[in-house]
Amino acid sequence: MGTQGKVIRCKAAVLWKPGAPLAIEEIEVAPPKAKEVRIKIVATGFCGTDIKSMDTKGFSQFCPIIMGHEGAGIVESVGEEVSTVRTGDKVIILCIPQCGKCDTCLNSKNNICAEIRQSKRHLASEDTSRITCKGKLIHQYIATGTLSEYTVIQEISVAKIDQGAPLEKVFVIGCGFATGYGAAVNTAKVTPGSTCAVFGLGGVGLSVIIGCKAAGAAKIIAVDINKDKFAKARSVGATYCVDPRDLETPIEKFLIDMLNGGADFCFEVTGNTETVATALGSCHKDHGVCVIVGLVGSWSNITINSQLFLSGRILKASVLGGWKTKEEFPKLVSDYMAKKFNLDLLITHTLTLSEANEAVQLMKSGQCIRCVLLP
Ligand code: APR
Ligand code: ZN
Ligand code: ZN
Repeated sequence: MGTQGKVIRCKAAVLWKPGAPLAIEEIEVAPPKAKEVRIKIVATGFCGTDIKSMDTKGFSQFCPIIMGHEGAGIVESVGEEVSTVRTGDKVIILCIPQCGKCDTCLNSKNNICAEIRQSKRHLASEDTSRITCKGKLIHQYIATGTLSEYTVIQEISVAKIDQGAPLEKVFVIGCGFATGYGAAVNTAKVTPGSTCAVFGLGGVGLSVIIGCKAAGAAKIIAVDINKDKFAKARSVGATYCVDPRDLETPIEKFLIDMLNGGADFCFEVTGNTETVATALGSCHKDHGVCVIVGLVGSWSNITINSQLFLSGRILKASVLGGWKTKEEFPKLVSDYMAKKFNLDLLITHTLTLSEANEAVQLMKSGQCIRCVLLP
């Protein structure tokens, strides 16, 4: 590409301090070192987690930072010892890596690779980053930082995908879609003919519905306090939509009556701690399974009355849908291309990277499910 081995100067959306708008800055992206990959980002966007972090005071220790962890692009160059991708490959960014060697990676039941420790510091290279701006080291959100024209990340945080894949669609598999869809098919293991209730109809909740439908659920009840979300929920597979504030009885009782003792599977996807008890209480008392999806990254306590557990309900959590990312995200991309599910309905807006602040406002207003940002 003519840029290999050289520093690339390009644009990125940089957060200099929590609560401030993103600044579109010129950054310098150094060439990748061993086991690293430099990627030209072609499509990216915000997920709810970015938005929450950006407004959190304690996040200042990671600033300046390039936000974003849902992204797809093309490999510009690779460092030494990189064997799984090469220049020109279409790739998806993995916000949880898969090193293939740690205890987690070797255990089929888990997906939180031990190498995620880098992500907690928001640095993509061992204790540093290849990106600078105005003489300062720039952090990369969750060791990715996709709101940039170019980025350098670890080889274990990137997966080669089908070369025909439309990047402006499949980037959403990188977090929101995989999180919701996997919560249904991997974590809950929704069964054919079952009943499901999904609390919260943002991009993740809608992806849970897509997963429930793909798994053959007979009834999918969509719950939200914003009725504007109902039309989209129906279009992806909800069979009934309800705003708990319109009911005279608590939503738990409503669902227990409606679903013959409660839902077989419930999903908390609002991001609120209180809704966990509500979702658990809406499960069938004997065999109901409730999956927490929306609380990742929140350090709050959850209060649940122990009575809810006395007859056999199960409470589980799901992180990034339980997927082994490097191995399975390319398969999700292929499944999308084989029309096993539709991502198009999740992407409601298109803007450029320079309009990142408009995309934040759209997310905050609740009007937008996902806004794809193109360079
Ligand atoms: N009851 C029902 N629905 C609620 C409630 C509630 N008490 N509170 C909020 N909601 C709805 C909102 O109206 C919104 O439609 O939950 C939905 C949340 O959607 P988004 O904010 O778009 O979030 P999403 O991207 O789907 O992610 C869901 O997972 O990754 C985390 O941080 C993310 O907490 C967020 C959650
Ligand atoms: Zn690992
Ligand atoms: Zn995310």
